[in-house]
Amino acid sequence: MFIIIMFFIIACMMNLSISRPSLDNEDNRFPVENESEEVRLAAIKRLLEVFGMEDPPASVVRNHKQPPQYMLDLYNTVADVDGVTKDPTLLEGNTVRSFFDKLHSEQIAFVFNLSTVARSEKVLTAELHLFKLRSQASLTFSRHHFCQVSIYQVLDTAKMNISQGRRLVSSRLIPIQSTGWEVFTITQAVRSWISGEHSNLGLLVTVRTLAGIQTDLRTVRFASGQNHHHSKQPMLVLFTDDGRRTTSLEGPLKGSDDTIAGPRLPLPNLTLPAAKHRVARSLDYEDDRERTPCQRLPLYVDFEEIGWSGWIVSPRGYNAYHCKGSCPFPLGQNMRATNHATVQSIINALKLTKGIETPCCVPDKLFSINLLYFDDDENVVLKQYDDMVAGSCGCH
Ligand SMILES: *[C@@H]1O[C@H](CO)[C@@H](O)[C@H](O)[C@H]1NC(C)=O
Ligand SMILES: *[C@@H]1O[C@H](CO)[C@@H](O)[C@H](O)[C@H]1NC(C)=O
Ligand SMILES: *[C@@H]1O[C@H](CO)[C@@H](O)[C@H](O)[C@H]1NC(C)=O
Ligand SMILES: *[C@@H]1O[C@H](CO)[C@@H](O)[C@H](O)[C@H]1NC(C)=O
Repeated sequence: MFIIIMFFIIACMMNLSISRPSLDNEDNRFPVENESEEVRLAAIKRLLEVFGMEDPPASVVRNHKQPPQYMLDLYNTVADVDGVTKDPTLLEGNTVRSFFDKLHSEQIAFVFNLSTVARSEKVLTAELHLFKLRSQASLTFSRHHFCQVSIYQVLDTAKMNISQGRRLVSSRLIPIQSTGWEVFTITQAVRSWISGEHSNLGLLVTVRTLAGIQTDLRTVRFASGQNHHHSKQPMLVLFTDDGRRTTSLEGPLKGSDDTIAGPRLPLPNLTLPAAKHRVARSLDYEDDRERTPCQRLPLYVDFEEIGWSGWIVSPRGYNAYHCKGSCPFPLGQNMRATNHATVQSIINALKLTKGIETPCCVPDKLFSINLLYFDDDENVVLKQYDDMVAGSCGCH
């Protein structure tokens, strides 16, 4: 069953010319021995490529590592329970990556290892998320209610306390008494790391009073990865696009049901022995597909069955659907036929030219799905994949 499903996906989505084994015929399966193991591995490798990976993420042992709440919330905002994109306009790019600090410094300084970001990936926005803790020092310290928090890109670790060794990337006033997440946009710094313009020496955060005096670290404190709860760790969030968006078919973006064609050809009024003709055909083929009209049927892709549940956080699987059925003359409106298909079905019915089949029942609208997963470096990534779910089927 598994291999059949794999081939289904590959044949349908990658337009490979693999003939589809009949689901109805149990004896028609691939041999379930050695040879099939090769096919299985090749199929899974191909499926990984569909998901933009060469190999499954290496570190499979994940002792119940908890994905950042921010990423879980983001996933639930963009995707429904099946992982299908709710609103394609919510994310500008197709990838969101989260990173934890690797430095664990005494100062408010952070280093994020961005080695998993491909050079070809376009950085749209980069955000530093810091959790501000309650102030420990008494308020007597300051007449001011705000402090100035500045984020610097470190250019020279030996001189990072003076202006020559760092570059200001973001700065903002924050209420001294506030607690909770503060987000700073640091796109400029991340772009310079990824392009190789500057090597990634990390970020330094300074906190000053409005009079410009550097404050005591007890007055304004941010959670660190070392001393505070996992859920409050400093985090870098990268919104990127890997340029893999396809343009093959109209997706939900371009939308409505009548995008398929311009004006439709009126249904032809030919006086054909159509019914008789169809009966003859179905007797010839003795195939159920010939009789059921083109329709969308379920096709569940189970990540656990494929062995990917270790690194995929959400969803557990998704319904890709598949298109099945016949497209006989005359094609009604509900067959969502293109003009081309209508003409082909007429030519087929009239037998004007030999060897012209009826049109094919194929997906004519595809939706994207979202995957929340751990990458090679155990960072949590949210990625959108286009054209993964058949939204509707039509005769083409
Ligand atoms: C499978 O491979 C093993 C060893 O590689 C061999 O002994 C066995 O006969 C093979 N089975 C089939 C069905 O080819
Ligand atoms: C920068 O200042 C902090 C505290 O003010 C100090 O701990 C650190 O060693 C200094 N770093 C350098 C490179 O001078
Ligand atoms: C189409 O069929 C209808 C009735 O079946 C008939 O009234 C009409 O004249 C036909 N149109 C053409 C173009 O043959
Ligand atoms: C970043 O992570 C990669 C992969 O885990 C590792 O090979 C590399 O050494 C790391 N780089 C630094 C600077 O720690």
